[in-house]
Amino acid sequence: MLMRSFSLDKSKIKVLLLEGIHENAALYLGENGYTDVECLNGALSGDELEKKLQSTHIIGIRSRTELRKSQLIKTPKLFAIGCFSIGTNQVDIQDAKMLGIPVFNAPFSNTRSVAELVIAEIIMLMRGIPEKNALAHNKIWMKSFNNSVEVRGKNLGIIGYGHIGSQVSILAENLGMNIFYYDIEKKLSLGNSRPVSSLNELLKISDTITIHVPLTDLTRNMISKEQITLMKNGACLINASRGDVIDYKAVADGLRLKQLSGVAADVFPGEPSSNDKPFENDLQEFNNVILTPHIAGSTLEALANIGTEVAEKLVRYSDTGSTIGAVNFVEIALQANASKQRFLHIHKNVPGVLGEINHYFSSRGINISAEYLQTDPDIGYVILETESELDASVLKDLKNIPHTIRVRILY
Ligand code: NAI
Repeated sequence: MLMRSFSLDKSKIKVLLLEGIHENAALYLGENGYTDVECLNGALSGDELEKKLQSTHIIGIRSRTELRKSQLIKTPKLFAIGCFSIGTNQVDIQDAKMLGIPVFNAPFSNTRSVAELVIAEIIMLMRGIPEKNALAHNKIWMKSFNNSVEVRGKNLGIIGYGHIGSQVSILAENLGMNIFYYDIEKKLSLGNSRPVSSLNELLKISDTITIHVPLTDLTRNMISKEQITLMKNGACLINASRGDVIDYKAVADGLRLKQLSGVAADVFPGEPSSNDKPFENDLQEFNNVILTPHIAGSTLEALANIGTEVAEKLVRYSDTGSTIGAVNFVEIALQANASKQRFLHIHKNVPGVLGEINHYFSSRGINISAEYLQTDPDIGYVILETESELDASVLKDLKNIPHTIRVRILY
């Protein structure tokens, strides 16, 4: 395995941003002293990517550049990866971890965008607009009060009161809705929203249900025939979370039986992998259904937020060693370096490594002013601060400690 160690001036840290990452990222890096930033519009793969990675310290990608183990093991200098996206499937994150490379992403940059679309859908569904819109497109004039109510004073049931669910709560309350939510965790209720003790209770009292949970063993198919039967007659249902959280066949039956008066779905099981692939779903035959291609979070603002959010995390890690927001790494949260020098040591989590590191410093009479350690079953990450001004030979010695993966020094 390649041994990795760094002691670099910021201007010598080479950053490569691919796939037209929003300009906010390069701007933020530049403002923080990272002047060697190359931005390319396309994705890279194969030899081209391998060549570029030879000299790159920090790489930023979106979803089309894949960083697999076979590439990562050939990157002598790479010390951080930024996925300017929500997901990180395009990177072998476990392998990156074992090479001492934290991977950062932007899970909450599009929270507001999702919440806004959900609000629009609540109103559209409760006014019966999708159906009237479809008929109008087919030259049918359906001017009617039927199936059309104000949202003011109606009950909104939110399943999952996390980042998105709680944003929806605030916005919907401002429209005059009564907010109830169900979450497996105890949550702080915002505004006048109220928790309920069971999913069934929420289903029974809500005029519209909106789902904002992650996909887990507990949430897979959490809305199926049994739950739809419990819902108010003519209730609306919105899913902008994950496709497998809902049994869409049961939802189609609920629409046929008029148990549900409208549905909005943004996420589906087995979504097409690209825009040129066909899309099929059980709800396509219904006029009172809004179908969107997983775009609840896709706004220009979300894109810009992602640019800043990931760049901030990369700069924080590079400047301080802080791994806040890394998806594959133990978390150490630190401010800028208060002492003269900060050593970052990433090693395999086997007994004795920390002892050797400490022994190295104490046997040379070097006082350690602060020490932070986090471990997981695979790796240990220790940050040491000293008041001394040690030369770069310390790095060489530290990397010779058995089981060392990576060493960096920050001044
Ligand atoms: P979050 O992690 O902030 O909140 C999720 C909430 O669900 C947490 O409060 C959690 O305690 C709760 N929860 C988990 N299991 C539960 C269960 N069995 N029953 C009830 N509550 C449960 O996540 P965030 O950011 O609010 O995202 C929610 C969902 O939205 C995720 O599935 C995410 O993938 C999806 N999403 C979809 C987007 C789109 O474009 N359609 C964009 C962004 C996120």
